[in-house]
Amino acid sequence: MSLHEFYNPELYEMKVGISPRVGPLYLSALHHLAPGSTVMELGCGIGDVLLPFARLGHRVHGIDSSPEMLRRFQERLTEEGLGQQAELHRCMLPDLPESVPADAILMPYDLISHLLDDSQLTELFMNCRRISKPDTELLLDVARFDVAYLGSLAGPTGSLTRAHGIYDYVGDHCLNISEQSRYTPETGVLSCTFRYEELDKSGRLVTTWFRELKLYPRRIREVTAALELAGFATVRVDDTPFPDGMDHFLVHARVAHG
Ligand SMILES: C[S@@+](CC[C@H](N)C(=O)[O-])C[C@H]1O[C@@H](n2cnc3c(N)ncnc32)[C@H](O)[C@@H]1O
Repeated sequence: MSLHEFYNPELYEMKVGISPRVGPLYLSALHHLAPGSTVMELGCGIGDVLLPFARLGHRVHGIDSSPEMLRRFQERLTEEGLGQQAELHRCMLPDLPESVPADAILMPYDLISHLLDDSQLTELFMNCRRISKPDTELLLDVARFDVAYLGSLAGPTGSLTRAHGIYDYVGDHCLNISEQSRYTPETGVLSCTFRYEELDKSGRLVTTWFRELKLYPRRIREVTAALELAGFATVRVDDTPFPDGMDHFLVHARVAHG
């Protein structure tokens, strides 16, 4: 299954089985941007993070590999009359569009965990460095690398099923979502299989489907080292609290000192 199939705009917009949004945190971390700045987001999805920047009058560039997610983002921009301020690029990271003079480059929601090996992360940061001005701010978040949790998902007996909950769905139906995860220390890849059970209003099972996502959790030190290797001189890690107990770090980087 490709990432496109995993990221479904309708489910994403309904907030079905997806943890809290991190947009407000990014907006407040960048409250000092001058009016009319250019904000670029990698893995922008349906625009939850960038739309508020566009509403403030900034120019926004959204990058995503999923045509369905980008299509919904474009519709939302048009619905709000913000289409003139935005450019959406279909692009598979670590590639980036040739040249976007961004004042800020955002990678919210542990986007980099979608890059399943170290060379892809290095390439992504090098490409960000290439399009950065000296004062471009790079902002990303990284989930805490939880050794005990990942260890518990490794080995022959180590897969874990966890319940995500029951969500309202189309009509009067509900979705009961659970996840089975498995971690392979040899490759560093976390494989998650999500199970969706659609229930009718009397709780009867209508249909079941599965979606898969592979992630590559990283230690924060690996991320800051990769940024430094790519030429980002100022790298700072904040332990700003994330919404609803998300255990993530916020990382700021710039090309120049200061
Ligand atoms: C969890 S969603 C986050 C969307 C948005 N940043 C937010 O916080 O609401 C991750 C998005 O990253 C995109 N994505 C993941 N890996 C990607 C890659 N290698 N290249 C481009 N987009 C990618 C997915 O298509 C999806 O839309």
